Amino acid sequence: MLDNRPPLPPEIARRRTFAIIAHPDAGKTTLTEKFLLFGGAIQMAGQVRAKGEARRTRSDFMKMEQDRGISVSASAMSFDFREYRFNLVDTPGHSDFSEDTYRTLTAVDAAIMVIDGAKGVESQTRKLFEVCRMRDLPILTFCNKMDRDSRDTFEIIDEIQENLAIDVAPASWPIGSGRDFLGCYDLLHDRLELMDRADRNRVAETVRLSGLDDPKLAEHIPAAQLEKLREDIEMARELLPRFDRKSFLEGHLTPIWFGSAINSFGVRELMEGIGEFGPQPQPQTASERQVSPDEGKVSGFVFKVQANMDPKHRDRVAFVRMASGHFQRGMKLLHVRSKKPMAVSNPVLFLAADRELAEEAWAGDIIGIPNHGQLRIGDALTEGESLRFTGIPSFAPELLQNVRAGDPMKAKHLEKALMQFAEEGAAKVFKPMIGSGFIVGVVGALQFDVLASRIELEYGLPVRFEPSQFTSARWLAGSKDAVETFAGTNKQHMATDNDGDLVYLTRLQWDIDRVVRDHPELKLTATKEMM
Ligand code: G4P
Repeated sequence: MLDNRPPLPPEIARRRTFAIIAHPDAGKTTLTEKFLLFGGAIQMAGQVRAKGEARRTRSDFMKMEQDRGISVSASAMSFDFREYRFNLVDTPGHSDFSEDTYRTLTAVDAAIMVIDGAKGVESQTRKLFEVCRMRDLPILTFCNKMDRDSRDTFEIIDEIQENLAIDVAPASWPIGSGRDFLGCYDLLHDRLELMDRADRNRVAETVRLSGLDDPKLAEHIPAAQLEKLREDIEMARELLPRFDRKSFLEGHLTPIWFGSAINSFGVRELMEGIGEFGPQPQPQTASERQVSPDEGKVSGFVFKVQANMDPKHRDRVAFVRMASGHFQRGMKLLHVRSKKPMAVSNPVLFLAADRELAEEAWAGDIIGIPNHGQLRIGDALTEGESLRFTGIPSFAPELLQNVRAGDPMKAKHLEKALMQFAEEGAAKVFKPMIGSGFIVGVVGALQFDVLASRIELEYGLPVRFEPSQFTSARWLAGSKDAVETFAGTNKQHMATDNDGDLVYLTRLQWDIDRVVRDHPELKLTATKEMM
């Protein structure tokens, strides 16, 4: 990922589209809120608070899901900061890792990794980081909660380097921690940033310096702490890599800022970092060719569908990452999958808690298109070219359960509800070749509870999930004849997924091994591209 292409038009070049990844509780919500505050999108801290976080308990998660107005508008937020336009795409809040997260990360050009200064790299941080690495996403790191007792700075940096196998270059250096935390020395601009403990929403005081020997430092930092700071930085400059933009953009090095989101400290420097060093909208890969953001014609792809945002209207919003061109409201675009034109007359941009009509959008932006189910994850919209954007996978579920409607007369309703969630990407739905009913597949167990609650809430349909004899599913690839012959003789294992594609349901790894051994003419896959 490099910006060595010809310069992009200024409207595109100023865009930064990114996500925040974090282990629950590290401070993602608080940081998001401060971004919006500094970006002028909200007036007061506390407004995104309602979204809170999944809060890790089931009941709270359900509550949040019910409060979809808020969680949805927070799915993608746009705001300006200095000369930049930031598009912040939210990764799902709950701690069950889901493919939704993966797909969200296909829509961004960079990620901010938030870690808790006392806890370092945690399990969810590692998982999410790996997904970013698969896509070579540049990562900026924010070490949060420095106002609390934190680990030694070298220790934190070492842990990231060792655990995540990435070089870490300090962009700022903390002065003290916990009660003694004074602020940071900005290594990239030779500035002293001092935290204001009295007012959490106030931006830190900045003292410009000529370097570490500047006498002004002694006016603000007690002698003992100053001596330690000088020693630390000398050692850091000797032992740690310097910030190198090329390495960062290629995903080999992450700059780290230290701060305290709740105290609004270090946030502005991080935002400046995204603006100054973060990648501009990147080319997107389609199976036909690469699509460059500065192409004259508009194109984009759906990476997320959110249904029933407003239970009264049953509308869905497809979130589209603009890949190229300058979109204007009212444009007629080609919906590539159905080969039908689609007038995009009421696209929305999400500005904090408000939806606004998007009069225009440029490559890099995220717009929401309300629709009645035509738009699915992976779909492309273009000005006529038949493009298929790649890299939006569908994963084989790791947990399968049978689902039944509490009232057997409501089977048709249940089918409709399930298909809708399948299109949203919230679950896989399989219809076995033999017998009636459906099998639902998910990646994390919590998703069953969420589905049951949403089906009841949004469709008035109580459902029961019951254990299934199957544990996983594989898609089948091979010649049409080979697939049909195999399906005919293995009916008790066969089902169709929500797109009508054949899958082989497995009980044990042994089932998969057997097919691989006995049927070299077939290929079993654990992912398929969404198209
Ligand atoms: P998450 O979205 O990553 O799950 O984290 P969130 O922002 O919700 O923050 C988790 C907790 O950490 C919250 O406290 C929040 O106030 C606190 N926090 C965030 N940033 C900082 C920081 O810089 N310093 C300190 N000391 N705390 C921070 P909570 O008690 O769980 O919630 P609340 O009652 O404050 O809302």
